[in-house]
Amino acid sequence: MAHLLGYDIGTSGTKVVLCDPEGHPLDTCTATYPLHQPQPGWSEQDPQDWWVATQIATRSLLARHPAAKIAAIGLTGQMHGSVLLGADAASSGGGAQPLRRALLWNDQRTRDECDEITRAAGSARALIGMVGNAAVTGFTLPKLLWVRRHEPRTWNAVRHVMCPKDFIAFRMTGAIATDVGDASGMLCLDVDRRDFSEPLLRRLDLERSIFPRALESSDQVGKLTSRAATELGLPAHEIPVIIGSGDNQAGAIGAGVVSPGTALMILGTSGVLLAPSDAPRRDLSPQGPVGRLHTFCAAAGPRSWCVTGCMLAAGLSLRWARDLLRPGVSYDELLAEAATAPPGCEGLVFLPHLTGERCPHPDPHARGGWIGLTSRHTRGHLLRAVVEGVAFTLGQIVDIARASAVPVSTLRASGAGFQSALWRQLVADLTACPVLATGTQEGGGAQGAALLAAVGIGRFRDVAQACAAAASPAERTDPRTPDPGLTETRAIFDGMFPRIAGVWGT
Ligand code: XUL
Repeated sequence: MAHLLGYDIGTSGTKVVLCDPEGHPLDTCTATYPLHQPQPGWSEQDPQDWWVATQIATRSLLARHPAAKIAAIGLTGQMHGSVLLGADAASSGGGAQPLRRALLWNDQRTRDECDEITRAAGSARALIGMVGNAAVTGFTLPKLLWVRRHEPRTWNAVRHVMCPKDFIAFRMTGAIATDVGDASGMLCLDVDRRDFSEPLLRRLDLERSIFPRALESSDQVGKLTSRAATELGLPAHEIPVIIGSGDNQAGAIGAGVVSPGTALMILGTSGVLLAPSDAPRRDLSPQGPVGRLHTFCAAAGPRSWCVTGCMLAAGLSLRWARDLLRPGVSYDELLAEAATAPPGCEGLVFLPHLTGERCPHPDPHARGGWIGLTSRHTRGHLLRAVVEGVAFTLGQIVDIARASAVPVSTLRASGAGFQSALWRQLVADLTACPVLATGTQEGGGAQGAALLAAVGIGRFRDVAQACAAAASPAERTDPRTPDPGLTETRAIFDGMFPRIAGVWGT
């Protein structure tokens, strides 16, 4: 049987993975592209660079596997980016150029537009009611309003809006579409109906027609055109292209996370929880903050949803502390020193909000630091406090998911941070969940995209069956009763951010 290709259009590069017919990763290749930051807080990329990198990565990969026959292609990528196309797109066979560079998920320029959207909806709660999510600067809809306000000539030419992986689908097939998962991250999808929210679009004076069809994630968007096949160096065209989903949703599929109870936790530069649910559960507690979690359509089928929570500086906090306190040492050595300090670090806490924060405190002005130092504390305490501060924050995110009626009873661990036994045990103890880690061999979102492609061509009955066929053995860390020192320090940590919030601006 023929192989599968999965693509992840990431922020630093395009990764392509070649999978065997069952979806096990065989080999992978990445080609990078630049990030443009024309002003502080702005973040843009040229969609054509994604396509060039997609070609380079495919050609390099296939050069190593000249006999591989490709049965289907699946796509995933960075979410929330705004690709804008004009009137020439529909009839261009996938060849049209974007009207400007895409604004990315980590672009922060749209604070005013977020307020405008919240006002148009009536309130943050009303907006969450309509589209499942609060207005976040990184999402797509505020970017559109920014272009309308600041670049009216470009805006007047816009006929189609799509996300990054959708642009690659367009280049590959000429079709204009997205999937319900990426569309949820645009901030104008009615996540209950899995279609765009006409009431919200009307209030913002936006045409429904500029938004693409929202497919389910294992739906076929089109077939590879002969021009795209030539550009990619693929011998055959007419290969089915499956739309796939956003990187976190596809990452969940790659990790076998498809039904409520088992959630995906990623400990990379940032820390992410993705918890599946059988209904679009919203972060709408009667009192207190709302919308800290995102509510998205998931990739496992038309009755699948998920909540995601993202802390911005997880592994980044440890890297920062390493570069500051022990430049050049290995993470193994660093974590061994952290383990010399007692659980709870004798009351020392580290707030990991080094680059602002998204969840559990949606606050671009949030700041981090050690609080509670005494002359007894050692460098080992400082390091352990960083590891614990990240684990406490991930624990808070799990608590918010549970308070939103989304079950989290087992965690599938992904990302380099979970190579650390200390981090795995802390997360297990603080969430009362077994942590299942599959090592670094997994194909992540790109593998998830390949699995969705396999489902899309009927190789599996559904996404759950595809995940079962591709599952790899995992190392299990069972939760223990948390050490009393850890519990005491967690209580200090939980109370700390609310006391200092607002000190550095609102
Ligand atoms: C998800 C998010 C990021 C981007 C980039 O909400 O903002 O995960 O998809 O990877």
